[in-house]
Amino acid sequence: DIKGFVFDLDGVITDTSVFHSQAWHQVADKVGAPWSKELEDGLKGISRMDSLEMILKAGNLQDHYTDDQKVDLATEKNTNYLKLVDKMTPANILPGIKEFLDEIKDGGYLLSLASASKNAPTVLEKLQLTNYFPKIVDPKTLSKGKPDPEIYLKGAELINLKPEQCIGVEDAAAGVESINAAGETSIGIGDKTILKDADVNFTDTSEMTLANIKEQMD
Ligand code: BG6
Ligand code: MG
Repeated sequence: DIKGFVFDLDGVITDTSVFHSQAWHQVADKVGAPWSKELEDGLKGISRMDSLEMILKAGNLQDHYTDDQKVDLATEKNTNYLKLVDKMTPANILPGIKEFLDEIKDGGYLLSLASASKNAPTVLEKLQLTNYFPKIVDPKTLSKGKPDPEIYLKGAELINLKPEQCIGVEDAAAGVESINAAGETSIGIGDKTILKDADVNFTDTSEMTLANIKEQMD
Protein backbone atom coordinates (compact mmCIF):
# COMPACT_ATOMS: atom_id res chain seq x y z
CA ASP A 1 0.00 0.00 0.00
CA ILE A 2 1.17 3.50 -0.85
CA LYS A 3 1.79 5.59 2.27
CA GLY A 4 3.92 8.46 1.05
CA PHE A 5 5.06 10.73 -1.77
CA VAL A 6 8.62 11.74 -2.57
CA PHE A 7 8.62 14.90 -4.66
CA ASP A 8 11.04 16.44 -7.08
CA LEU A 9 10.85 20.26 -7.01
CA ASP A 10 12.08 21.93 -10.19
CA GLY A 11 9.60 21.30 -13.01
CA VAL A 12 7.13 19.45 -10.77
CA ILE A 13 6.10 21.84 -8.01
CA THR A 14 7.19 25.00 -9.78
CA ASP A 15 8.34 26.29 -13.15
CA THR A 16 12.01 26.75 -12.12
CA SER A 17 13.19 24.18 -14.68
CA VAL A 18 12.76 27.02 -17.19
CA PHE A 19 14.99 29.27 -15.04
CA HIS A 20 17.67 26.56 -14.77
CA SER A 21 17.59 26.12 -18.55
CA GLN A 22 17.80 29.86 -19.17
CA ALA A 23 20.79 30.22 -16.85
CA TRP A 24 22.60 27.19 -18.35
CA HIS A 25 21.90 28.43 -21.87
CA GLN A 26 23.81 31.61 -20.98
CA VAL A 27 26.78 29.51 -19.83
CA ALA A 28 26.67 27.42 -23.01
CA ASP A 29 26.70 30.57 -25.14
CA LYS A 30 29.57 31.99 -23.10
CA VAL A 31 31.82 28.95 -23.55
CA GLY A 32 30.68 28.32 -27.13
CA ALA A 33 28.94 24.99 -26.57
CA PRO A 34 25.95 24.13 -28.79
CA TRP A 35 22.53 24.34 -27.11
CA SER A 36 19.82 21.88 -28.15
CA LYS A 37 16.46 20.55 -26.98
CA GLU A 38 18.16 17.20 -26.24
CA LEU A 39 20.78 18.88 -24.04
CA GLU A 40 18.10 20.95 -22.29
CA ASP A 41 16.04 17.82 -21.49
CA GLY A 42 19.14 15.85 -20.52
CA LEU A 43 20.16 18.48 -17.97
CA LYS A 44 16.90 18.16 -16.02
CA GLY A 45 17.47 16.65 -12.58
CA ILE A 46 21.25 16.67 -12.98
CA SER A 47 23.41 18.26 -10.25
CA ARG A 48 25.08 21.62 -10.78
CA MET A 49 28.62 20.40 -11.53
CA ASP A 50 27.45 17.39 -13.57
CA SER A 51 25.28 19.76 -15.63
CA LEU A 52 28.29 21.95 -16.38
CA GLU A 53 30.30 18.89 -17.45
CA MET A 54 27.48 17.86 -19.83
CA ILE A 55 27.43 21.32 -21.41
CA LEU A 56 31.21 21.42 -21.83
CA LYS A 57 31.16 17.90 -23.27
CA ALA A 58 28.53 18.92 -25.82
CA GLY A 59 31.08 21.43 -27.12
CA ASN A 60 34.07 19.09 -26.66
CA LEU A 61 35.38 21.62 -24.18
CA GLN A 62 35.74 19.54 -21.01
CA ASP A 63 39.56 19.81 -21.06
CA HIS A 64 39.61 23.55 -21.82
CA TYR A 65 38.83 24.62 -18.26
CA THR A 66 40.60 24.08 -14.94
CA ASP A 67 38.61 22.87 -11.94
CA ASP A 68 38.68 26.41 -10.51
CA GLN A 69 37.36 27.85 -13.77
CA LYS A 70 34.59 25.25 -13.78
CA VAL A 71 33.58 26.26 -10.26
CA ASP A 72 33.52 29.91 -11.41
CA LEU A 73 31.25 29.05 -14.36
CA ALA A 74 28.88 27.09 -12.11
CA THR A 75 28.83 29.92 -9.56
CA GLU A 76 28.00 32.43 -12.29
CA LYS A 77 25.12 30.20 -13.43
CA ASN A 78 23.83 29.99 -9.88
CA THR A 79 24.01 33.78 -9.42
CA ASN A 80 21.95 34.23 -12.59
CA TYR A 81 19.52 31.52 -11.48
CA LEU A 82 19.05 33.12 -8.06
CA LYS A 83 18.22 36.48 -9.71
CA LEU A 84 15.27 34.71 -11.36
CA VAL A 85 14.32 32.90 -8.12
CA ASP A 86 14.31 36.20 -6.25
CA LYS A 87 11.32 37.38 -8.31
CA MET A 88 9.28 34.26 -7.51
CA THR A 89 5.99 34.27 -5.62
CA PRO A 90 3.33 31.60 -4.86
CA ALA A 91 2.01 32.37 -8.38
CA ASN A 92 4.96 30.28 -9.65
CA ILE A 93 3.45 27.10 -8.18
CA LEU A 94 2.41 24.91 -11.12
CA PRO A 95 -1.35 24.35 -11.75
CA GLY A 96 -3.06 21.91 -9.39
CA ILE A 97 0.00 21.34 -7.20
CA LYS A 98 -1.21 23.20 -4.12
CA GLU A 99 -4.53 21.33 -4.37
CA PHE A 100 -2.72 18.00 -4.76
CA LEU A 101 -0.45 18.69 -1.77
CA ASP A 102 -3.54 19.42 0.31
CA GLU A 103 -5.28 16.31 -0.98
CA ILE A 104 -2.42 14.00 0.01
CA LYS A 105 -1.87 15.78 3.33
CA ASP A 106 -5.57 15.42 4.17
CA GLY A 107 -5.38 11.78 3.05
CA GLY A 108 -2.72 11.11 5.69
CA TYR A 109 0.11 10.45 3.24
CA LEU A 110 3.65 11.36 4.28
CA LEU A 111 5.68 13.78 2.21
CA SER A 112 9.37 14.38 1.48
CA LEU A 113 11.43 16.31 -1.05
CA ALA A 114 14.11 14.72 -3.26
CA SER A 115 15.44 17.65 -5.27
CA ALA A 116 19.01 17.74 -6.59
CA SER A 117 18.99 21.48 -6.01
CA LYS A 118 20.89 23.12 -3.19
CA ASN A 119 18.49 26.03 -3.66
CA ALA A 120 15.39 23.95 -2.86
CA PRO A 121 14.76 25.43 0.63
CA THR A 122 15.00 28.98 -0.82
CA VAL A 123 12.56 28.13 -3.62
CA LEU A 124 10.08 26.54 -1.17
CA GLU A 125 10.23 29.72 0.95
CA LYS A 126 9.45 31.85 -2.11
CA LEU A 127 6.46 29.63 -2.91
CA GLN A 128 5.35 29.64 0.75
CA LEU A 129 5.36 25.84 0.72
CA THR A 130 8.02 25.25 3.39
CA ASN A 131 5.46 23.89 5.86
CA TYR A 132 4.49 21.06 3.52
CA PHE A 133 8.03 19.69 3.48
CA PRO A 134 9.51 19.14 6.94
CA LYS A 135 11.68 16.39 5.40
CA ILE A 136 14.10 17.40 2.64
CA VAL A 137 16.96 15.27 1.30
CA ASP A 138 20.14 17.35 1.54
CA PRO A 139 21.87 16.97 -1.85
CA LYS A 140 25.21 17.67 -0.15
CA THR A 141 24.95 14.28 1.58
CA LEU A 142 24.64 12.34 -1.69
CA SER A 143 27.49 10.34 -3.15
CA LYS A 144 25.72 10.07 -6.51
CA GLY A 145 23.04 12.21 -8.14
CA LYS A 146 20.06 11.22 -10.29
CA PRO A 147 19.72 8.78 -12.13
CA ASP A 148 21.28 6.89 -9.19
CA PRO A 149 18.54 5.69 -6.76
CA GLU A 150 20.27 7.18 -3.67
CA ILE A 151 18.24 10.41 -3.49
CA TYR A 152 14.85 8.64 -3.75
CA LEU A 153 15.91 5.96 -1.25
CA LYS A 154 16.81 8.75 1.20
CA GLY A 155 13.49 10.46 0.51
CA ALA A 156 11.65 7.31 1.62
CA GLU A 157 13.98 6.79 4.59
CA LEU A 158 13.31 10.33 5.87
CA ILE A 159 9.62 9.50 6.28
CA ASN A 160 10.35 6.01 7.62
CA LEU A 161 8.79 4.20 4.68
CA LYS A 162 9.97 1.36 2.49
CA PRO A 163 10.52 2.36 -1.16
CA GLU A 164 7.60 0.19 -2.28
CA GLN A 165 5.31 2.27 -0.03
CA CYS A 166 6.27 5.46 -1.91
CA ILE A 167 5.36 7.22 -5.11
CA GLY A 168 8.06 9.45 -6.61
CA VAL A 169 7.04 12.44 -8.75
CA GLU A 170 9.38 13.67 -11.48
CA ASP A 171 9.62 15.75 -14.66
CA ALA A 172 13.06 14.44 -15.69
CA ALA A 173 14.04 11.19 -17.38
CA ALA A 174 17.03 10.92 -14.99
CA GLY A 175 14.62 11.33 -12.08
CA VAL A 176 12.18 8.66 -13.28
CA GLU A 177 15.16 6.33 -13.66
CA SER A 178 16.20 7.13 -10.08
CA ILE A 179 12.68 6.43 -8.71
CA ASN A 180 12.40 3.14 -10.61
CA ALA A 181 15.86 1.99 -9.51
CA ALA A 182 14.89 2.79 -5.90
CA GLY A 183 11.89 0.48 -6.21
CA GLU A 184 9.23 3.17 -5.87
CA THR A 185 6.25 3.80 -8.14
CA SER A 186 7.09 6.58 -10.61
CA ILE A 187 4.94 9.43 -11.85
CA GLY A 188 6.34 11.29 -14.85
CA ILE A 189 5.06 14.79 -15.50
CA GLY A 190 5.49 15.92 -19.09
CA ASP A 191 6.28 14.44 -22.50
CA LYS A 192 5.43 10.74 -22.50
CA THR A 193 8.06 9.95 -25.13
CA ILE A 194 10.82 11.33 -22.89
CA LEU A 195 9.34 9.87 -19.67
CA LYS A 196 8.47 6.50 -21.22
CA ASP A 197 9.72 4.52 -18.20
CA ALA A 198 7.31 6.17 -15.73
CA ASP A 199 4.61 3.91 -14.24
CA VAL A 200 2.10 6.76 -14.35
CA ASN A 201 2.21 9.72 -16.74
CA PHE A 202 0.53 13.11 -16.75
CA THR A 203 1.13 15.66 -19.48
CA ASP A 204 0.37 18.47 -17.06
CA THR A 205 0.51 18.92 -13.27
CA SER A 206 -3.19 19.90 -13.25
CA GLU A 207 -4.09 16.26 -14.08
CA MET A 208 -2.40 14.89 -10.95
CA THR A 209 -5.07 13.82 -8.44
CA LEU A 210 -5.28 10.70 -6.25
CA ALA A 211 -8.17 9.40 -8.37
CA ASN A 212 -6.24 9.85 -11.64
CA ILE A 213 -3.16 8.15 -10.18
CA LYS A 214 -5.23 5.22 -8.96
CA GLU A 215 -6.81 4.87 -12.38
CA GLN A 216 -3.42 4.47 -14.08
CA MET A 217 -2.04 2.15 -11.38
CA ASP A 218 -4.70 -0.55 -11.68
C1 BG6 B 1 17.60 20.01 -10.27
C2 BG6 B 1 17.35 20.73 -11.58
O1 BG6 B 1 16.42 20.00 -9.53
O2 BG6 B 1 18.62 20.66 -9.51
C3 BG6 B 1 18.66 20.90 -12.34
O3 BG6 B 1 16.44 19.98 -12.36
C4 BG6 B 1 19.71 21.57 -11.45
O4 BG6 B 1 18.41 21.68 -13.49
C5 BG6 B 1 19.88 20.77 -10.16
O5 BG6 B 1 20.96 21.63 -12.13
C6 BG6 B 1 20.90 21.38 -9.21
O6 BG6 B 1 20.42 22.63 -8.78
P1 BG6 B 1 21.25 23.73 -8.00
O7 BG6 B 1 20.21 24.76 -7.65
O8 BG6 B 1 21.85 23.09 -6.78
O9 BG6 B 1 22.29 24.25 -8.92
MG1 MG C 1 12.82 18.28 -11.95
